[in-house]
Amino acid sequence: MLRPTLLLLMLVLPRPSAAPPAPVAPSDDAPSYTADGQLKFPKKYREWVFLTSGIDMSYNPKATAASHSMFDNVFVNPSAYRSFQETGTWPDKTMLVLENRGAENDISINKRGKTQSAEMMGFEVHVKDASLEGGWGFFGFDNPESAKLIKRPAACYSCHEEHAAVDTTFVQFYPTLFELAKKKGTVSAAYLHEIATPSVPKTK
Ligand code: HEC
Repeated sequence: MLRPTLLLLMLVLPRPSAAPPAPVAPSDDAPSYTADGQLKFPKKYREWVFLTSGIDMSYNPKATAASHSMFDNVFVNPSAYRSFQETGTWPDKTMLVLENRGAENDISINKRGKTQSAEMMGFEVHVKDASLEGGWGFFGFDNPESAKLIKRPAACYSCHEEHAAVDTTFVQFYPTLFELAKKKGTVSAAYLHEIATPSVPKTK
């Protein structure tokens, strides 16, 4: 049996289980801006989650192969990736990076195909942030410090809004995420319509 003094102590002392939950540590991979609203370069993006690589991608069926090939690599901040695993879509403060690199032949023992070069040819970031018009913004970096928001209207926004499978991002090309999005039912109506009505008739 509890002695009265102990009982009294238990009543007046805060019980550990009743303490408010510890505040969730803010994720250190959220977008960060300069005082004038430029996105700071996400210095640790090479430690983020890799989604895909594409080579010489073009939306134009008549595009001829460029004389120099180029790879693109897509990365996402880990906190957004974890959230996508739960919900099939992106949370606020998602950052997706598109890094372009040159392609090389005949390096070291490689005699066929192409490998990625150290030469960075472009660096763009797609940010989901409720404080931006439309909830998403594009930033194109021409230096490793910061980049201005690409203002609407721009082709970036229209192509992504019209053709990307999940929440204006090209999840149809991110193989580990696309199956998940289909299961969670987060694929956009526009994308489902697009694949149901191919613009180029199939020939035998
Ligand atoms: C004609 C269509 C089109 C236009 C215009 C376009 N993109 Fe994209 N974008 C794509 C495709 C397709 C991918 C998927 C790349 C892959 O699979 O490797 C992509 C992927 C991206 C990604 C990776 C994250 C995501 O949203 O899926 C970023 C960042 C990006 N584009 C930035 C830009 C910026 C900045 C512009 C404008 C300067 C732009 N894009 C214009 C088609 C487009």
